[in-house]
Amino acid sequence: MATTDVVTMDKIVSLCKRRGFIFPSSEIYGGIGSSYDYGHYGVLLKNNVKNQWWKSLLQERDDVVALDSAIIQHPRTWEASGHLAGFTDPLVDCRTCKLRFRADKLEDAQCGRKPSKHPGETPECDLTEAREFNLMFETTVGPVKSDGSIAYLRPETAQGIFLNFKHYLQFSRKRPPFGIAQIGKSFRNEITPGNFTFRMREFEQMEMEFFVPPDDAQRWFEHWLTERFDWYTKLGIRPDHLRLRAHDQDELSHYSSATSDVEYLYPIGWQELEGIANRGDFDLTQHQTFSGQKLEYVDTVTGERYLPHVIEPAAGADRATLAFLIDSYDEDEIDGEPRTVLRLHPQLAPVKAAVLPLVRKDGQPELAREIELDLRERMQVEYDPGGAIGRRYRRQDEIGTPWAVTVDHQSLEDRTVTVRDRDSLAQVRVPIGELGEELERRLRSPWRSPKLEG
Ligand code: GAP
Repeated sequence: MATTDVVTMDKIVSLCKRRGFIFPSSEIYGGIGSSYDYGHYGVLLKNNVKNQWWKSLLQERDDVVALDSAIIQHPRTWEASGHLAGFTDPLVDCRTCKLRFRADKLEDAQCGRKPSKHPGETPECDLTEAREFNLMFETTVGPVKSDGSIAYLRPETAQGIFLNFKHYLQFSRKRPPFGIAQIGKSFRNEITPGNFTFRMREFEQMEMEFFVPPDDAQRWFEHWLTERFDWYTKLGIRPDHLRLRAHDQDELSHYSSATSDVEYLYPIGWQELEGIANRGDFDLTQHQTFSGQKLEYVDTVTGERYLPHVIEPAAGADRATLAFLIDSYDEDEIDGEPRTVLRLHPQLAPVKAAVLPLVRKDGQPELAREIELDLRERMQVEYDPGGAIGRRYRRQDEIGTPWAVTVDHQSLEDRTVTVRDRDSLAQVRVPIGELGEELERRLRSPWRSPKLEG
């Protein structure tokens, strides 16, 4: 087993393309800056990440409910939320190389003429004054473009939750503490997107607003810090590659009185994976003022009324998927042959089991097909009949399939198959009649990244 972390962003980008996880978008037209499309295995993996997030909130708790709100909301939403006035980054243009940079991140950017220098470092650099650039994508609603028709693609999913808060009080009869969770696309016209799917202009968020009595806010803030940190480690992220970092006062967003980021040690360094913020009553107060609608919670027994405070764990589905890919990436050798393997948590693996006939004759393909059809009822499986068995194992290792089920000549005699484990490479014979239950048992078992043993 490999002992050092061999992963780089280039290796991940190349594996993702080679194995059909993630492709640059619109490639036949030359691509469009920092947009990516998820291919078959990418969709399966990201869906598993999102399903685990839903499971941890909806199935394993009884104080969170779900929502799927619209992407285009009433434009007043963004006045109330502060995004119209304040969701900006400072931008500078270079008159020499015609490139655009974030004024506060020049040290992370390369000069257009001399990539070894940062913008502004060479005598030829001619940077404009910084000006504020709003990150929201503007669009128009209806056939006529006028001032009244301007709307925005949501830059965060959170506001849809606040707009619906009243419905949940009235119709779901929820009372604080409770949370509303949603997953969906958000859009930001980032000035300098990059690092693969880490910073895109179109991305998916997994956000939850947890409404609490004001006096309990700090306690719930701490609760969600722990819960969210543990979610990643339970799904296999190595704890020494994860940390919580509290924001300094000058880093806090306009709505937040305290924020901590869950950061992951990406190959580009420690970066935000998820933000957990204490938003106080900022959003409900603003929407109450701008809409003229009362958004207070009223206790029908005590008559007590208050605007709940909000704790928000805000995660990125793409950043989490990228972190799981990076953390699971490994290289080792089998019989002197190099191997690339994704040591993904079985619950996250796009395909749980591959069914492989050893040879394409003697009834082996037919039996393998029969087994595949049976397993399909239980989990995502794949049938792969062609090519040398070693090459088929490697292919499954590269997409992170935890178990390979091989049908050989003995299978036709005694109705047993071998099950090969991706990480330990152990092969055991299992009766076909017990295979489904055995794989389900393995899937449910606690799991620890083998990279931790390295
Ligand atoms: N509602 C709070 C909010 O949106 P945020 O820190 O701006 O907070 C939350 O975003 C999460 O969304 C981030 O931690 C990150 O995982 C993800 N995210 C934000 N911008 C992104 C981008 N341009 N590309 C990919 N993911 C992004």
